[in-house]
Amino acid sequence: MDLLKQKIVKEGKVLSESVLKVDSFLNHQIDPELMEEIGREFTERFKNAGITKILTLESSGIAPSVMAGLRLGVPVIFARKRKSLTLIDHLYSAKVYSYTKKETNEISVSKDYISNDDIVLIIDDFLANGQAVDGLIGIVNQSGASLAGVGIVIEKGFQDGGSIVRKRGIRVESLANITSLADGKVTFNEEDSS
Ligand code: G4P
Ligand code: NA
Ligand code: NA
Repeated sequence: MDLLKQKIVKEGKVLSESVLKVDSFLNHQIDPELMEEIGREFTERFKNAGITKILTLESSGIAPSVMAGLRLGVPVIFARKRKSLTLIDHLYSAKVYSYTKKETNEISVSKDYISNDDIVLIIDDFLANGQAVDGLIGIVNQSGASLAGVGIVIEKGFQDGGSIVRKRGIRVESLANITSLADGKVTFNEEDSS
């Protein structure tokens, strides 16, 4: 997605060989017009998949997911990182290990919002080692719903997450796929990043 790649080149900050900061449009300040285009692009790629729900993870997955949900005409559910005190038993949950933060968090979704007749699209802002996406897939599996695929705004293709998820036969569509952050420079995989 050219608009997104241009934005990454212009405003992204390469913090190290493995970390890209995009606080100006995705992780802190949000660019609504770019999010709208991202929603349009996810819709284009998944419009024939029969999606009934979008599942994401708070907080940075929410903006692109809502824009996709608006276009696809389906509700958006965000998994919570902290357990709600009012729905202890009525939850799907999964453990997510963060390599960046070196800690494990439990993520959860109320059983009220995903059921076995849903067809779910998972969306997230970044795909790195794939731990977050793996947790979201676990929640979809617990619900008995079908998984249509995974939509990612920025994939770090030099980390393992994307290939691990694709090897499980799951469709992954990333709108920008970064192959390298070496020498302070962002390099994209210019081939179809699906
Ligand atoms: P993983 O889920 O793919 O295994 O990634 P990891 O544990 O390393 O990521 C932890 C958090 O950092 C996640 O956000 C993830 O989206 C984000 N992240 C991973 N790599 C990068 C990167 O290069 N740049 C940026 N900006 N973020 C990255 P989170 O903790 O869930 O936070 P948020 O959704 O509230 O923003
Ligand atoms: Na995220
Ligand atoms: Na994030």
